[in-house]
Amino acid sequence: MKNHQPIGIFDSGIGGLTVAQSLVKLLPKENIIYFGDTAHLPYGDKSAETIRGYSLKIAQILLEQNCKLILIACNSASAAAHEAVKQFVASKAIVVDVIDPTIDLLRESYGNKRVGLIGTRQTVHSNVYQKKLDESKHSINLMSVPTNLLAAAIEEFGNHTLLEPLLEKYLSHPTFKNLDALVLACTHYPVIKEKISKFFDHKIEIIDSSDAVARVVKHRLEKDNLLNLDGPGKKHFYVSDFTDSFAASTKIFFDENITLEHYPFQEK
Ligand code: DGL
Repeated sequence: MKNHQPIGIFDSGIGGLTVAQSLVKLLPKENIIYFGDTAHLPYGDKSAETIRGYSLKIAQILLEQNCKLILIACNSASAAAHEAVKQFVASKAIVVDVIDPTIDLLRESYGNKRVGLIGTRQTVHSNVYQKKLDESKHSINLMSVPTNLLAAAIEEFGNHTLLEPLLEKYLSHPTFKNLDALVLACTHYPVIKEKISKFFDHKIEIIDSSDAVARVVKHRLEKDNLLNLDGPGKKHFYVSDFTDSFAASTKIFFDENITLEHYPFQEK
């Protein structure tokens, strides 16, 4: 692998852009290829098997684009397909997911806290966060609630007031009384982080692990001497279905002229 090869990032839609933004801030010289699988959005309602199928196909596309590292910037795909993607990619690229860096963050700083978690149905029902936390001796008991419609609503409405009634319904869940912190276990949710924080009167910590994920990517590249120090930091965006909302969102995340390329997704 060579330093100038791009980092491939994927998600079902705009969610992964929250992680891509942190990554670009930390590693501005890296060339980035982003794949938003907008044709199959939302992932959170699909079966693990279906999400694995999409993830493997995208991993293949990113390998064909010569990526040195593939970042699964989606909790649902990380829960359902991290192992499968790692096996498929083998030694051709480094694979990083968004769950492991969050687990490390929780272990380091939230040991004695009351921590809640919101994510898609896929992520919450997989119980992957709790399982991984239980592997360490300082286990944290997570209170997890699936917030099924949230990712699709964010994709559709962005950070709009229409989201508030939905948040009211989900976040007033009795298990979320007296929380110290809430994990945003879906990469779409940082888009409405402020609204979520406001619901809790800004009294609890909202854990958005995008920066932690970016640091893990940096560390993995450093370890293999693969950081790109020369730039130019090119960004390329692919979508499996061209949508106006995705086009508008990329502009919010990256204030530069971005070209979206339609990459039709061939089913196997
Ligand atoms: N952003 C994704 C996640 O982190 C997927 C949301 C969805 O497509 O349902 O889970």
